Amino acid sequence: MTPDLAVRLGPLALPNPVMLASGTCGYGLEMAPHGDLSALGAVVVKGLSLLPSPGNPPPRIVETPSGMLNSIGLENVGLAAFLAEKLPKLRRLGARVVVNFYGGCRADYRELAARLDGAEGVHALEMNISCPNVKLGGLQLGQDPREAHRVVAAVRRATRLPLLVKLTPNVTDVRVIARAAADAGADALTLINTLQGMAIDVETRRPALARTVGGLSGPAIRPVAVRMVWQVRQALPIPIVGCGGVWTARDAIEFLLAGATAVQLGSVNFTHPGRWVEVVAGIGEYLRRHGVARAADLVGKLEPWA
Ligand SMILES: Cc1cc2nc3c(=O)[nH]c(=O)nc-3n(C[C@H](O)[C@H](O)[C@H](O)COP(=O)(O)O)c2cc1C
Repeated sequence: MTPDLAVRLGPLALPNPVMLASGTCGYGLEMAPHGDLSALGAVVVKGLSLLPSPGNPPPRIVETPSGMLNSIGLENVGLAAFLAEKLPKLRRLGARVVVNFYGGCRADYRELAARLDGAEGVHALEMNISCPNVKLGGLQLGQDPREAHRVVAAVRRATRLPLLVKLTPNVTDVRVIARAAADAGADALTLINTLQGMAIDVETRRPALARTVGGLSGPAIRPVAVRMVWQVRQALPIPIVGCGGVWTARDAIEFLLAGATAVQLGSVNFTHPGRWVEVVAGIGEYLRRHGVARAADLVGKLEPWA
């Protein structure tokens, strides 16, 4: 039996549940030397803003014993350069492209969504209402259910593309924001962005990052992400994309069992670029070994203890 790896995130059909997470694979093109991009579920490109952004000053990445801390500050080439220079190349490589984007205000989000709507080769949008490293907007939007509802509804009206909304874990109850985004018309939710963290160089007594606080990613945050995916799965029927410390096929399957329909590989792309090839193969191998016909059949199939 050859298992069927195809999954659906609402209107977005993917050949397998493995995606690359925004900000960890550049514009996707940087990953092309490491594997066939068309064999991925999808690539989520670096978060775009209307205008190019230089991001935050260095140091903006630091390793800790339990994950990576970053405060890149959403450096990106801007929408126009992406559409003109990056997207045509991604199209030629046969990649399914999810465009991650963010704005400083609701009007920015709306305009980005409207301008991406007609772009050939954009398969879906992922709006980031969760970046902890920009001064404007992001965090407020992702932490306040009313604001989250307003901005998602505005984007929903501006685009017919499948719409993923990426949530922050830096909230008391992620289900409240998840419900607001779903009610406002999101087709799927991506859980999670980075957890706020901080590290200090005790010799200089300075924060390790120029912006002091950054986002923690990697395997250390996986249990938090799995818990949040599971919580949202119990509360809402909307498809979920699990993200946070996926390193291997085993980790991807953990997310599927918790209730994610697909997963994103993030920080692993820095240490093991091309790992997605093994993760896709490993999910297929697991399905065969367990006699499961379709990856979609694993979603939420956690066995209760009692
Ligand atoms: C260097 C870096 C840059 C990132 N940039 C973005 C971004 O532009 N937009 C976004 O939504 N998430 C961004 N993220 C968050 C990741 O997409 C992902 O949600 C997070 O790293 C957790 O997954 P991981 O533990 O597998 O890395 C970034 C993460 C890192 C490490």
